[in-house]
Amino acid sequence: METPRILIADDDKKTRDFVAAFLSYKGYLVFQAFDGQDALQKIELHDVQMVVTDIMMPRVNGLEFIRQLKSVRPEIVTIAYSAFANFEMTANLLKAGAFFYMEKPFNLEELQIVVQRGLEHQALQRKSFRSRPCIKNRALLENIIGEHEKMLSLFEMVEKVASSDSTVLIQGESGTGKELVAHAIHDLSNRATGNFVALNCAAIPDELLESELFGHVKGAFTGAVATRIGRFEMADKGTLFLDEIGDMKANLQVKLLRVLQNGELEPVGAAKSKKVDVRTIAATNQNLDQMVVSKAFREDLYYRLSVIPIMLPPLRERSSDIALLLNSFLAKFNKSKQRQVQGFDKQVLEILSNYEWPGNVRELENLVECLVILKGSGLLTIQDLPDKYRGGRPAAPRSEQIVLPDSGFCLNSAVEEFENRLILQALQKSGGNKKEAAELLNLKRTTLIEKLKKKRLVPGSTPV
Ligand SMILES: Nc1ncnc2c1ncn2[C@@H]1O[C@H](COP(=O)(O)OP(=O)(O)OP(=O)(O)O)[C@@H](O)[C@H]1O
Ligand SMILES: [Mg+2]
Repeated sequence: METPRILIADDDKKTRDFVAAFLSYKGYLVFQAFDGQDALQKIELHDVQMVVTDIMMPRVNGLEFIRQLKSVRPEIVTIAYSAFANFEMTANLLKAGAFFYMEKPFNLEELQIVVQRGLEHQALQRKSFRSRPCIKNRALLENIIGEHEKMLSLFEMVEKVASSDSTVLIQGESGTGKELVAHAIHDLSNRATGNFVALNCAAIPDELLESELFGHVKGAFTGAVATRIGRFEMADKGTLFLDEIGDMKANLQVKLLRVLQNGELEPVGAAKSKKVDVRTIAATNQNLDQMVVSKAFREDLYYRLSVIPIMLPPLRERSSDIALLLNSFLAKFNKSKQRQVQGFDKQVLEILSNYEWPGNVRELENLVECLVILKGSGLLTIQDLPDKYRGGRPAAPRSEQIVLPDSGFCLNSAVEEFENRLILQALQKSGGNKKEAAELLNLKRTTLIEKLKKKRLVPGSTPV
């Protein structure tokens, strides 16, 4: 879970430091403000979810601060303390929306309990807003991070299909978590005590794939010095995960179809077939639909595999999950790499939430690992991000070189020509690959394609 962010407001530096040090030590991300006015500014800057504030402060006092804060950000939990409070003050504080009032001097352990309760209260309120569907086996799905609608439907789907023995086809871009989902389906199924066996069809040379899948008998081919069982048999009573199924060659596709249809396989070189009890999950990041149309993938096998189709959304389609993923991976790598990076500042969160993530969750996970190792401690700021994420490309041609002629000229056609030249150059650099060209121009691929259509530009024509 994301580390809770707490702001301490107190004009007395000693108390402030003391409380801040204690809460940091307890694992919260703590920020400080020296009075109510300063606090109101820092709330937005640090995106905090809780405030612990003194009452007696110059400029804007604690009560006024809570009133103002609640009128704009009612969901922020506020805890107030003071040495001088009376009944009237306490009543006013609670009326203004304070969650709790503590009298000074207070015990720090007591403060921590109140902070904890405040955060729980906030979480409950958030939950009732969202009305999450009931996911019974959340614990088993815990390592699949996501709260976006699309992920919640995915969790429901995974739960529903796990107990059936039907074949599942998981599709999605690279790095969206296909293998993770396949694992979860196995773990939630009645086969959980059996083996989960994975085979990446693209990683094994075509001529070896058949024996890898179905096994072989001794002497079946040169090099078959002993009889060996294949992945199907290893997965007997369990689950076989066939990754990158789109890379399987046509002759094997036929053999696979036969096994899926009648549960019997023939090891290479064997005279007899064997029965196996295997649930198959296949995955691919290719468009199998299209491959069926172009006859690169057998239609009958496609239908046999996709009895239950699951589509994983690319990360850019669930960007509200980005902050959650960033913080979860931060916690994970802080622990495994023994670092103490506190978190991402607001600007970094914003930049990364708007980034396209072509490599999806894998790319995000790798970035966080790298940032945690390089930074070691403190808060991650924009300076820590690699250029690619900062959008920090040099603004292409230098505008001061362009001079308006005395006679003037047509702005629209000049801009148009400028754009055409850059697009054609990007296409030339990428060897005609539109995805890469779009990346060079910091455009979405679909935007580039639209522009090409509209402008009737032909990739390959010379940018003049
Ligand atoms: N929702 C998620 N929550 C947490 N981690 C995730 C999530 N999705 C993916 N990951 C992590 O991202 C990495 C890539 O995931 P995975 O290998 O399952 O992707 P994939 O879709 O199979 O990719 P590819 O098509 O490239 O094989 C893994 O380290 C995985 O743990
Ligand atoms: Mg994979």
